[in-house]
Amino acid sequence: MENIKQYVQENKERFLNELIDLLKIPSVSADSAYAQDVIDTANAVKSSLEKAGCDFVELCETPGYPIVYGEKIIDPSLPTVLVYGHYDVQPADPIELWTSPPFEPVIKPTEIHPEGAIFARGACDDKGQMYMHVKAFEYMIANNCLPCNVKFMIEGEEEVGSKSLGWFVERNQEKLANDVILISDTGMISNQQPSITTGLRGLSYVEVEVTGPNRDLHSGLYGGAVANPINVLTKMIASLHDENNHITIPGFYDKVEELSAEERAQMAQRPFNQDNYNKALDIAEEFGEKGYTTNERNSIRPTLDVNGIWGGYTGEGAKTVIASKAYAKISMRLVPNQNWEEITELFQKHFESIAPKAVKVLVKPHHGGQGYVTPIDSVGYQAAAKAYTETFGVAPIPVRSGGSIPIVALFEQELKSKTIMMGFGLDSDAIHSPNEHFGVFNYLKGIETIPLFYKYFAEMNK
Ligand code: BES
Ligand code: MN
Ligand code: MN
Repeated sequence: MENIKQYVQENKERFLNELIDLLKIPSVSADSAYAQDVIDTANAVKSSLEKAGCDFVELCETPGYPIVYGEKIIDPSLPTVLVYGHYDVQPADPIELWTSPPFEPVIKPTEIHPEGAIFARGACDDKGQMYMHVKAFEYMIANNCLPCNVKFMIEGEEEVGSKSLGWFVERNQEKLANDVILISDTGMISNQQPSITTGLRGLSYVEVEVTGPNRDLHSGLYGGAVANPINVLTKMIASLHDENNHITIPGFYDKVEELSAEERAQMAQRPFNQDNYNKALDIAEEFGEKGYTTNERNSIRPTLDVNGIWGGYTGEGAKTVIASKAYAKISMRLVPNQNWEEITELFQKHFESIAPKAVKVLVKPHHGGQGYVTPIDSVGYQAAAKAYTETFGVAPIPVRSGGSIPIVALFEQELKSKTIMMGFGLDSDAIHSPNEHFGVFNYLKGIETIPLFYKYFAEMNK
């Protein structure tokens, strides 16, 4: 595998152009207007796996979008790596905040990526990171150095809760049997200091609806005499945190795993600069649960956030009205041992209980999933650490992330194997946000590092 660096250099332009072509297809899973584009993307991924050297590739039909499955089984006695990724992307809006159109990829330098970054929706999350695996696989086939069996499972509904993937995994345990699951759909600390994601938070996502009077009312004629659902909803939401930014839902913290002082001290050793963090976000001060640091708040502690809130008149000018209804979308990020279904129920009970009699409340659960923590003494983690050390010249640091990939906990439950998260994105890559991008350095470094994971995973399994 000495020549992987050279292979990447020689094929760099083609690797970039192929990814750019994939990024041009707007595979937004949340919006049915893009249904054909999502399917076109599945087909594009399928043909890329065929070209790269899979023996067998298929689109597996599901109740939702198809799952691209591909495999190269070289010897049943060798270990098998199952690569997971997703070809769907988040919606691009607010579109007016993009400096170039989200589905017309361009490469531009940034402060953090002086060598250039690819700007497009999905560049980092997850088309760019998923495609690194296809190109790393292409290299191992072309150079006859693939040391493991490989299975690819690339889904098209990750950004909307992976419903069909759960369905698929439960029905295909045999087909998906593996020794380790490998995912690049997370990030790392910086291009100078790689890290391996060892934890993901769970998620409970709900929508709430507060109904006051049966129709919109003149805010002069009725104002003051009936409950205004927007006033009520915002007050209810405000009461979900106390003065220490602790969540007030009874029982919410009951199962939260508390880290030992040693574990917290270890976490605090990762490089982090609060001033730079604040500057990058243009905030005067950080904010969060009392007694915890920023890195603890966004990884080992559960949270509750409003993701959207609406109701009443939001058009141009002023309209004097008391709306009949108000709405909010709320996410709770959960930590290991918290059960997302239980938390959803606790939320629902509590939210209904705090509503004044003057309104009706409806809580609609959307989706959710369990958190995940992977051990660092596994063969998979050790192989990944060795691979990063070789390509970055520095040992990676294990880091628990605040994001969620709910399907990972289900993989462990159904397929009984550990997941290794080799993420190459940066927090500043603006995933889910306007101007999402992925560093050219990161993309190529990923392609360089992945084959080494296979090499060491095979060696360590001997
Ligand atoms: N790739 C992200 C998750 C992620 C990003 C984890 C960076 C760690 C670091 C994934 O595509 C995602 O956005 N997940 C959603 C949850 C999903 C159920 C919609 C999330 O975390 O909000
Ligand atoms: Mn993702
Ligand atoms: Mn995402």
